[in-house]
Amino acid sequence: MKILGIESSCDETACAVVEDGKTVLSNVVASQIDEHKLYGGVVPEIASRRHAENISWVTKQALSDAGCTLADIDAVAVTYAPGLIGALLVGVSFAKGLAMTAGKPLVPVHHIAGHIAANYISHPELEPPYLCLVVSGGHSHLIEVLDYTRYHVIGRTRDDAAGECFDKAARTLGYEYPGGKYIDSAAAKGDPNAYKLPHPKVTGSEFDFSFSGLKTAVINQVHNAQQKGETIRPEDMAASFQKTVADTLAEKTILAAKRFDYTKIACAGGVSANSGVRNRLSEECEKRGYELYLPELKYCGDNGAMIACQGYYDFIAGKRADESLNAVATLSLDDISE
Ligand code: KG4
Ligand code: ZN
Repeated sequence: MKILGIESSCDETACAVVEDGKTVLSNVVASQIDEHKLYGGVVPEIASRRHAENISWVTKQALSDAGCTLADIDAVAVTYAPGLIGALLVGVSFAKGLAMTAGKPLVPVHHIAGHIAANYISHPELEPPYLCLVVSGGHSHLIEVLDYTRYHVIGRTRDDAAGECFDKAARTLGYEYPGGKYIDSAAAKGDPNAYKLPHPKVTGSEFDFSFSGLKTAVINQVHNAQQKGETIRPEDMAASFQKTVADTLAEKTILAAKRFDYTKIACAGGVSANSGVRNRLSEECEKRGYELYLPELKYCGDNGAMIACQGYYDFIAGKRADESLNAVATLSLDDISE
């Protein structure tokens, strides 16, 4: 079964064809980062316009790379939530038009479910139930993946998402947007014990995250040093920051695994590409004999393959949309799980 997956929730216009939820026949991603980085972040209005310009050719390219025409596709899957509303609407409207004119079923896919599904592409042997840490530009979640289409969110960020925190720390250190990957490469050349940073703490729920205090600590240390005429070595600050984030994420993940009795753990989202996070999770899981699943780097960030993959499981579970499908800016995975 071939599913065409369309993704436009933020700043990548992406389309892919995936067979049976695991074999990627094509995966085309048109990134808008070069334009948004001039403004230090994603400008929603620009994102919508670029999606509208790119979505047709990206889809044509995905079909042609897969050696298919629309007639060979069994269903059209599209990200409808959560994300930037104007950006989502471009993908949703385009997918509706495509599905209706070609007479194909339309499958609505939740973006976070898509990130999680990236692991089924990289690890076809992975089967629910398992625990998944989702860390991206807009989300930090600890999720029980009960089944391919059923989830229970056990922890979420109270303020900044992990990726957002990486990007803000990066900006303070002079790296361009989105700075997560620059922190990652700078950290490899720095001393992780050079600067003392607070371990993010949350009162109330032990599985929730909070990253704004850590972000502020980086900003304050850099500004204080500048005011005193001292220099902060960016590589050392990047390494200290990355270690703090990786420790926090790994610590909460292991705590949740113990509490909810999981020995199978996955990680997903843009920040799952981070080498510090990957290494820390690997060490902690290895110590305890847990199985760890990490997506290949090309499926960590936003892409169409993860949407087509989740679209396959949603299709099998009978999820369908019609021409009334709308985009939704905020929607918890709990709310789409029966
Ligand atoms: O999942 P994603 O592509 O988009 C959202 O759904 O938000 O995640 C983007 C985020 C950005 O904040 C980016 O800086 C971060 O993922 N990111 C990284 C790395 N690569 C991407 N953060 C840390 N280390 C990386 N290597
Ligand atoms: Zn994403």
